[in-house]
Amino acid sequence: MSDLPALEKSALEELRACSDEQALRAWNSKYLGDNGAIKLALKKIGSLPAAERPAYGQQVNRVKQTLDQAHQEQEGKVKQTELERALATETLDVTLPGRPVARGRLHVATQTMRQILAIFADMGFQVYRSREVEDDLTNFELLNMPPHHPARDMWDTFHTTTPGVLLRTHTSPGQIHVMRELCPEPIRVVLPGMCYRYEQITTRSEIMFQQVEGLAVGTSITMADLKGTITSFARRVFGAERTIRIRSSYFPFTEPSIEVDVDCILCQGSGCGLCKQTGWLEIMGAGMVHPVVLKNGGYDPDKFSGFAFGMGPQRITMLKYAMTDIRLFWGNDLRFLQQF
Ligand code: DAH
Repeated sequence: MSDLPALEKSALEELRACSDEQALRAWNSKYLGDNGAIKLALKKIGSLPAAERPAYGQQVNRVKQTLDQAHQEQEGKVKQTELERALATETLDVTLPGRPVARGRLHVATQTMRQILAIFADMGFQVYRSREVEDDLTNFELLNMPPHHPARDMWDTFHTTTPGVLLRTHTSPGQIHVMRELCPEPIRVVLPGMCYRYEQITTRSEIMFQQVEGLAVGTSITMADLKGTITSFARRVFGAERTIRIRSSYFPFTEPSIEVDVDCILCQGSGCGLCKQTGWLEIMGAGMVHPVVLKNGGYDPDKFSGFAFGMGPQRITMLKYAMTDIRLFWGNDLRFLQQF
């Protein structure tokens, strides 16, 4: 039993010398820890003569309590000293500027989309939204492409596992939806939205991309209206000096069909890398709505006529900023996105 007072004395002396938390932790494991001196003393009880055990046990417990309490007190003292030191030496500079909160922004594709819709809104076109999952009937047949018609090859299609249900390859099926909803009223709408094509992803083609379709139906609409609308659009997007060029083309749902170019925004038509030395940039397909399509929409082609157009806003963005890789749009690279 004689070792206990000595243990108590040296422990308390060492404790008083502990001036920081690290020293306190070391002291604690030396005396009160799992392999500490107190645990060892408790283990020793079993090896003592039975008569000595109770007294020795009581003694150990008393020493343990003393050390516990002394440790707590010393810990309090150390913390207090540390606090006083910190208050005296560390100052809080309340004049430091705050950390800026990162602000979000609209994706460049959304910016262009909104600009396009705003321009058409100024010309009286309302926005009409239609579904991205379409049926074969609306995406192809009602647009004058019967099953097995070779013109369908122009649109590589994602088919779903449900026969006849597919992801729309263009916004043109929206023409059918809007005509059937509004017939026999006149129509002036733009149809924005995502389209899908089963294509190799390259710098020029993506499997998902946006289109903006336009449709005007009325009793006296002519090619001149189409030309005026497109010219005015091109000048608002690409600059007041732009001229447009119309080439004849083919789409099953328009007759006649055209493709529209603007004179190159970089070289003004003299030929450069952006326009591949042609002086012209292609911006959309368009035409006068085919009589079959008008009829499928519920309009009598002998009384009504209309024009339609379809364009890719991402292509327009690429032309505006001379971008060379369409994959940047959905690549989620902040270095690209933060430029706009
Ligand atoms: N739907 C066509 C495409 O995806 C684009 C198009 C061409 C739309 C002519 C039209 C149009 O409305 O008249 O390639």
